[in-house]
Amino acid sequence: MANVANLAGRRAHWALALVAIIPAPRDVVETGGQFTVAPGIALTTRGGDAAQQVAVQFAERLARHPGIRLAPPVVSNAPSAAAGASRVVFELQPGDQKSEGYRLVVTPDVVTVTAADVAGLRHGAVTLWQLVATSAASATPGAATRAVRIPTLRIEDAPQFGWRGLMLDSTRHYQSPAFIERTLDWMALHKLNVLHWHLTDDQAWRLEIKRYPKLTEIGAWRVPAGRAAERDIDPTTGKPRLYGGYYSQETVRRIVRYAAERGITIVPEIEMPGHASAALAAYPELGLGVVTPGRVPADWGVYANLFNVEEPTFGFLENVLREVMALFPGTYIHVGGDEAVKDQWRTSPRVQQRMRELGVRDEAALQGWFVARIGRFLDQHGRRLVGWDEILEGGIPADATIMSWRGVDGARTAAQSGHDAVLAAWPTLYFDNRQGAANTEPPGRGRLVTLRDVYGFDTRVAGLTEEQLRHLIGVQGNVWAEHIRTEERVEWMTWPRAAAVAELGWTPATQRNYDDFRARVMAAQPWYRAVGIRAATSEFETPPPPPANVRRSQELELCSDKLVLNLEDDGPVAGPRARFLVDIMNPCWTWSDVDLERGATLVADVGQFPFNFQIGKDRDAIVLATPATASGELEVRATTCDGALLASLPLAPAQDRDAVTRLPAVQLAPQATTRALCFRFTGRTIDPMWALDRVELQAPTSADTAPPNSSSRTGVAR
Ligand code: ACM
Repeated sequence: MANVANLAGRRAHWALALVAIIPAPRDVVETGGQFTVAPGIALTTRGGDAAQQVAVQFAERLARHPGIRLAPPVVSNAPSAAAGASRVVFELQPGDQKSEGYRLVVTPDVVTVTAADVAGLRHGAVTLWQLVATSAASATPGAATRAVRIPTLRIEDAPQFGWRGLMLDSTRHYQSPAFIERTLDWMALHKLNVLHWHLTDDQAWRLEIKRYPKLTEIGAWRVPAGRAAERDIDPTTGKPRLYGGYYSQETVRRIVRYAAERGITIVPEIEMPGHASAALAAYPELGLGVVTPGRVPADWGVYANLFNVEEPTFGFLENVLREVMALFPGTYIHVGGDEAVKDQWRTSPRVQQRMRELGVRDEAALQGWFVARIGRFLDQHGRRLVGWDEILEGGIPADATIMSWRGVDGARTAAQSGHDAVLAAWPTLYFDNRQGAANTEPPGRGRLVTLRDVYGFDTRVAGLTEEQLRHLIGVQGNVWAEHIRTEERVEWMTWPRAAAVAELGWTPATQRNYDDFRARVMAAQPWYRAVGIRAATSEFETPPPPPANVRRSQELELCSDKLVLNLEDDGPVAGPRARFLVDIMNPCWTWSDVDLERGATLVADVGQFPFNFQIGKDRDAIVLATPATASGELEVRATTCDGALLASLPLAPAQDRDAVTRLPAVQLAPQATTRALCFRFTGRTIDPMWALDRVELQAPTSADTAPPNSSSRTGVAR
């Protein structure tokens, strides 16, 4: 990062505009001069209150960073102010601009932002602000707040997609309203225009619904999984402390207004018929009788709990949606529809009877009927239903928009049948995946999805005609928050990958270039810091390699790649926790490239985490080797996991500890041919599951060096 200022400085003379703007504008022509943005210069608006609001917002932004106060904006219908006086003009006027498009013309005297709609004017203002903010970073230190020179130029710009989204999961972990507002600020600075707000799920219901207060009284709170949380007794109740929070309607109205002022539409998501456990914990009569009433579950994964299909349940859902529509004025309402495991519907005689009454052939078709019914309700209220791509399986409801997450097939199918689709594909657009391999990366899913990977996502879905391609209305990054416990980590996981999504959504594929984008993200770091974005540095800082004799779990190889998480230990409740990279289907690691010719002392640190994953029958596929002692052992094997047992470290010393435990060291006998070690756990139970945190091989000192014993393949276990 050290060379950011240099980079911007070097480029300042020839292409500052190109390095300053994210997402990249369509068409930029630099004209070789400069305009000086200085305190007190005139700000004029034409186009009524909306233009005035944009100008005021721009002036406030500029005053905050880089600290230049313009004159208060003046409404003017005159064609232009006196020639020669520096000024900035915002003009909202019907013209040839595309939806959300703008024109930015900078001459030595006048900066003019013109758009045909207020969204376009806002985007033009953001581009201008980015130009000033980036130019300020490359200006002489100390001069930045007095005056900033920007290049003269002409930009013609408009987005490729109308939906440039970010999904934030506020259910698995709760973020404060202030954080949501900050996120909206940062989205606006990248011209992202949809916040898809994931508000209900198995683990929480976060939206106040006046008619059903238990949704938040009960549904917004849970005891986190694991021993540490169970032992964390709240003195006021004598019971384990509850984790949670919710958004009151008053707060939501404020957030929606805040978003609108920044040109962002909030699309609320209310999940049905699955991912409904929190609602069913509050109102068990809406389900099929299997949720523990009053208790919101805390496992991750997919619960089998579905809403039933009785009339009162639809009455409930419609009443909820009435309040949702009153809060969120945008056209789209997301009703989830993903991962609705149908077992409860299949085994319920009552649901089966309803299916016969309705003439519905199977459970997939029942979900189709369910979603279509909700879709009609929304339609009657002038809204449009959005659902995850599973809603295609039961027959696509009229007018539904598909959010394609299992790759882009859903989008293709939707577009081919004349439905709109948003690309939000796992894994590339899932920001719960880690973005770097360093052991300092925050918890998340284990798969690597780098900034480059996100930028390289192909928005051109193959196999569609020109007409069908028009149904691809956008692209979105999803921040699922199971493993993202803090707001600081949400920021890290989101930025700058969301900047890549912004460019996927805005800039035509033919104009995208990763190296160029990367340079712009680097040049943006000063203003990222100034506006408070604590972005990931994964792409820009290479961590030092680990010492040759030490490996953390992230620096070992995993034996398999089934369900890999960069998982946080469950304890302590407060303070730093260990983090393990682990395949929870097979907790097993390999260290290749070891040198055991002279033997070594092996020191292993291990920890435990609650196996709080609803993975259905897949759980049966997790097989641990048979233990020799009650607590099990960490086995160290030669070359592969079928290799000779070199050491077996009893886990008893770690059994009752929440924190990471250093097991007593063991000697590994000299191994002439062993170049790799396998580490795996034996045990009778997977909950809690053991994980390797760190392993160290200490070379013998010359005093205890023994000649290699090539006839023995078995090491010494203490
Ligand atoms: C999803 O990831 N279940 C939409």
